Amino acid sequence: MSQQNFNFDTCSIHIGEKPDFSEGSKSEVVAPIYLSTTYARKEVKNPGYFQYSRCDNPTRFALEQRYASLEKTRYGLAFASGLAAEATVLFTLINPGDHIIGFDDLYGGTKRLFNQWKEKYKIAVSLVDATKTHLVEEAIRPETKIIWLETPTNPLLKICDIAAISEIAHRHHILLIVDNTFLSPCFQNPSVFGADIIVHSVTKYIAGHSDVIGGAVMLNDHALYERLKFNQNSLGTVPSPFDCYLVLRGLKTLSVRMGKHQSNALEVARYLEKHPKVAKVYYPGLPSHPQYETNLKQAGGFGGMVSFEIKGGEQEAIQFLESLELFTLAESLGGVESLIEHPALMTHSSITAKEREQAGIKDSLIRVSVGIEDEHDLLNDLEQAFEKVR
Ligand SMILES: Cc1ncc(COP(=O)(O)O)c(C=O)c1O
Repeated sequence: MSQQNFNFDTCSIHIGEKPDFSEGSKSEVVAPIYLSTTYARKEVKNPGYFQYSRCDNPTRFALEQRYASLEKTRYGLAFASGLAAEATVLFTLINPGDHIIGFDDLYGGTKRLFNQWKEKYKIAVSLVDATKTHLVEEAIRPETKIIWLETPTNPLLKICDIAAISEIAHRHHILLIVDNTFLSPCFQNPSVFGADIIVHSVTKYIAGHSDVIGGAVMLNDHALYERLKFNQNSLGTVPSPFDCYLVLRGLKTLSVRMGKHQSNALEVARYLEKHPKVAKVYYPGLPSHPQYETNLKQAGGFGGMVSFEIKGGEQEAIQFLESLELFTLAESLGGVESLIEHPALMTHSSITAKEREQAGIKDSLIRVSVGIEDEHDLLNDLEQAFEKVR
């Protein structure tokens, strides 16, 4: 049976780690961590496939094959972080004078990167509410090179219609990039809906245990893959072999983890929706979410991220966050343990207050990465913290 025909759960365990029974091989079940930085050749003019580990490394090669299989693309590339992946994509595609359209609720670090590029290379950036597809088309200029989306977004969990925006992008000869970090390839494959490049902060659900910083790019176009691979090497934005091993290991349980993240998140969202001290809940799995139907159309799940506004403001939010005992007050998301944070003061403090206001990130907003602990313990902890908020 061809490995191409395997389903997601099988690919997440096996692709890239096929035992090799050829003579002299050790037929390992688990891909070894290849630490050697360089590879010997017998003849000066005849290098093997692997020469120097920044260019290619066998552990990374195994992971890149798995990335491609999980995102249903031809190619996968592994990076040292989500932002290293993003910077390599920008470096490859964007020239002075170009224009980028982005979702107005993109991850703060992505916006910061756009801002730096804007100042240094005189490019233009338009951030639009991509939940309204027509606003994306209206923002297009002759010099627009890429449209950059997240769905759901970080931290307001807005959903945009990937297929509709992809149709617009391609009609105007623009590339569509989708950051698929929040749902992971387990619940959503943007390439199926026309996205040209998929990026991930592997640090989150893909690695899944809050112990690796990593990034990924997946795509189908061969020429673009060659350009990105060239720059992955020339910029040196590569992950270490040990990190690649950890991600290969983490991926084996991705779908089991995502199922529990999601069922716990739904419990938490339903609990928050009924809570008298909560003003608003953002979760794509609640029928009250404004883009609930769009998410259903393009994704196989809603994920483990929930955001909510506590009644009051910054003071009540801080009081609540500092009263929690099981949820850990920390940035990041997608690990097995539940994390909670205040976007305006933590993850999104790198963008200006004006940009936060425009994006709707209020001082009362709290973002929860719901882990895979027992759901009753999670709800009990939220309840005791709410009780401490005056
Ligand atoms: C949606 C999203 N994209 C990209 C990144 C950047 O990834 P990294 O922290 O791995 O560089 C993050 C980080 O939080 C993120 O949430």
